[in-house]
Amino acid sequence: MKVLVIGGGGREHTICYVISKSVGLEKLFCIPGNGGISEIAQINENISPNDFEKILQFCKENEIDLIIPGPEEPLVKGLKDFLEKEGIKVFGPDSKSALIEGSKSFAKETMAKAGIPTPKFEVFDDPNKAKNYVEKKGAPIVIKADGLCAGKGVFVCEKKEEAINAIEKIMEEKIFGEAGNKVVIEEKLIGEEASYIVITDGYNFRALPTSQDHKRLLDNDEGPNTGGMGAYSPTPLIDNKLKEKIETKVIAPLLRTLEKEGHPYIGFLYAGLMIVNKEPYVLEFNCRLGDPEAQAILPRIENDFLELIESTLEGNLDKIEIKEKDLPAICVVMASKGYPGKYEKGKKIEGLDKASQISNVIIFHAGTKKINNEFYTNGGRVLGVTALDKDIFSAIKRVYKAVSFIKFEGAHYRKDIGERVFKYLSSF
Ligand code: AMP
Ligand code: GLY
Repeated sequence: MKVLVIGGGGREHTICYVISKSVGLEKLFCIPGNGGISEIAQINENISPNDFEKILQFCKENEIDLIIPGPEEPLVKGLKDFLEKEGIKVFGPDSKSALIEGSKSFAKETMAKAGIPTPKFEVFDDPNKAKNYVEKKGAPIVIKADGLCAGKGVFVCEKKEEAINAIEKIMEEKIFGEAGNKVVIEEKLIGEEASYIVITDGYNFRALPTSQDHKRLLDNDEGPNTGGMGAYSPTPLIDNKLKEKIETKVIAPLLRTLEKEGHPYIGFLYAGLMIVNKEPYVLEFNCRLGDPEAQAILPRIENDFLELIESTLEGNLDKIEIKEKDLPAICVVMASKGYPGKYEKGKKIEGLDKASQISNVIIFHAGTKKINNEFYTNGGRVLGVTALDKDIFSAIKRVYKAVSFIKFEGAHYRKDIGERVFKYLSSF
């Protein structure tokens, strides 16, 4: 089978890594890919993940059988709808189901219909009404732009003025363009966040290993929010009882509701949860794998990944069990100086060989470029260094040993990825 992965981050390197081990793989391609991906797949950096016509042409030229999109944007824009008309299989939801991530108001309204626990909310398309609501409700309060904003559209506001300011920026100044035509305003919850990702054929689903992201830039969860600075899997925050609650109160009702509306959801479905008093509340759904969660989750899955995806597409997921390795994994993101704001590119990366010689260490590339057999930084998040070990404590040691060998100018990484586990283990 000839497979094309769409995207060029750490998540896509991880997808390529597990697919490259699949028995049924004939040839692997990736658009646009990155330096690390270029070592295991044929990449084409000149095609954008959102240029559907060029992707179609590429598929025809290379006789692609299956496309696996990594990021949300092409799915929300209708990549599946477009390519399946041409007879090319796409593993992901159609544009209507992908709205579960593409529109926060659609997601919240669908959750309300399905009875899924989520923070109380209101949707507004008029900034004055939104501001009046904030005046009435007071702070803390959360303001969310409706559409896709590359992870920047959520404002958790401790003061009323911040919330009013966020509404003005989103709805009046239109800093996110059309994505700010509506806002969702919701109550702020206090708890612990976790990521619950399933693979689904629209009717059946199987949970992937649990995980937890570290969204803030700095140690002790300080500094600005980022795309994610590290992840570990599994998380003791989600025990079997909580798993069952998540599956019966969140995942199953969502799939039933989308299916009833004529859009069974196929692909990876990610529930971003806040756990409050051992109860799950959905903060967001994503129509894809998490990044960097994928870097910690996928290496822990024993199943042949391509077979898993093909069985799902054929509607045979009910016959499959996900086999999880009994080795926890931890992924530490190494980022460019300045990320998540402005950063420079083109810094030479050294020590990758030495780091990857440590057993059970995998180095996933995110923003890198390969020039004359050397790797250079080419993005905000540069690498996702991942280690597996017999327990999370040993995995932490192993991953930071690997990280210590890798050098590039301005490299920034958190030193406390996975340490939250200690807190959970003592309180559960
Ligand atoms: P979202 O993209 O909706 O998941 O929001 C991004 C981040 O904002 C989440 O990972 C949380 O850290 C925070 N957040 C979003 N909604 C809420 C909420 N209702 N209460 C507390 N924190 C929130
Ligand atoms: N790591 C969070 C996300 O992928 O949305």
